[in-house]
Amino acid sequence: QELDMQIEALEKNGYEHFMLKEIYEQPTTIFDAMRGRISSKENRVTLRGLEEYANRFVRANRIIIVACGTSYHSGLIGEYLIEDLARIPVEVEYASEFRYRNPILNERDIVIALSQSGETADTLAALELAKQKGAMIYGIVNSVGSSIARLTDAGSYIHAGPEIGVASTKAFTGQVTVLTLLALSMAQKLSTVSNTTFQTLVTELESIPEKVKECLKADEHIRYIAKEIKHHHNALYLGRGYNFPVALEGALKLKEISYIHAEGYPAAEMKHGPIALIDETMPVIVTATNQSAYEKIISNVQEVLARKGVVIAVVPKGETAISSMAHHVIEIPATEEQLSPLLSVIPLQLLSYHIAVELGRNVDQPRNLAKSVTVE
Ligand code: G6P
Repeated sequence: QELDMQIEALEKNGYEHFMLKEIYEQPTTIFDAMRGRISSKENRVTLRGLEEYANRFVRANRIIIVACGTSYHSGLIGEYLIEDLARIPVEVEYASEFRYRNPILNERDIVIALSQSGETADTLAALELAKQKGAMIYGIVNSVGSSIARLTDAGSYIHAGPEIGVASTKAFTGQVTVLTLLALSMAQKLSTVSNTTFQTLVTELESIPEKVKECLKADEHIRYIAKEIKHHHNALYLGRGYNFPVALEGALKLKEISYIHAEGYPAAEMKHGPIALIDETMPVIVTATNQSAYEKIISNVQEVLARKGVVIAVVPKGETAISSMAHHVIEIPATEEQLSPLLSVIPLQLLSYHIAVELGRNVDQPRNLAKSVTVE
């Protein structure tokens, strides 16, 4: 028992919880997900698994991403990335729904499974079904040699190292990084982006680990915000475009470890329901790092404030319009819109972490949850 505790303390490397350690590892793990796969100097992105099946990828009719939980959210970002950059139609589905609804699939489809553990029962079953129907199956997985990694035709590991905290953090950013590489590589092969855009994105992607370090500097400030809002029983997360899946992920993180009810919404959908819930007891976390639709996000914030909601805004450094209205502001470095989830999710991870700690929750092993769900 004593020895186990000593080993655990060593593994936590000075951090109070595995989750916090894993949040802080992200500058390194994102770098590791790109290692050897990207070079702005050589103007290239290479994923070995993709190269092996390059023909199938460039001729694909459709890509279907299947996943559960946090991995499903990175899948949604993958959809935005692949459609935006490589112009191939993408669908994202909860593995549990996909496998039971008699989906249409054929040899021209590619099914990509996203999974940290590589053992999630529903994701594995969805892949088996896709394989039976003749689709090519590709895995983006963390656990080396796991069931999903072994079943797939090809794939790319995210190389994030073991993730112990039940709430996934570094696996999420690792998956998003690999999906970005995949979208960029396909875009180059299909000539769906200009060389200038490709160069800009590749160069910017290389600078993301440093920018994640910048994001982590807001930790103390986020802890302060956590203390201010920890007593509320609900929270709403809003984002548009690339930040919509980040809003879903922020809400999931809060639910998982603090047991506070939270929902993520596309900001513009707020008026179709959730706005009815907004009053002074509702913190609204708005991720507003988009260059596009900025004016619209400003008006979403005004709508929340008019109903006395408590606004916590995640904005790019130097932003003024939303910052001057919000109750709390978290600044992160500016980046290209396609890469913004890799930065904007960091403060949301920290916010849920600190709220859970403040409430005395079991951060690394929340009640009723398992790290790897091997039953359906
Ligand atoms: C469980 C975990 C989540 C995870 C999900 C999918 O619910 O608690 O953190 O996102 O499974 O797991 P996978 O290993 O397939 O990514």
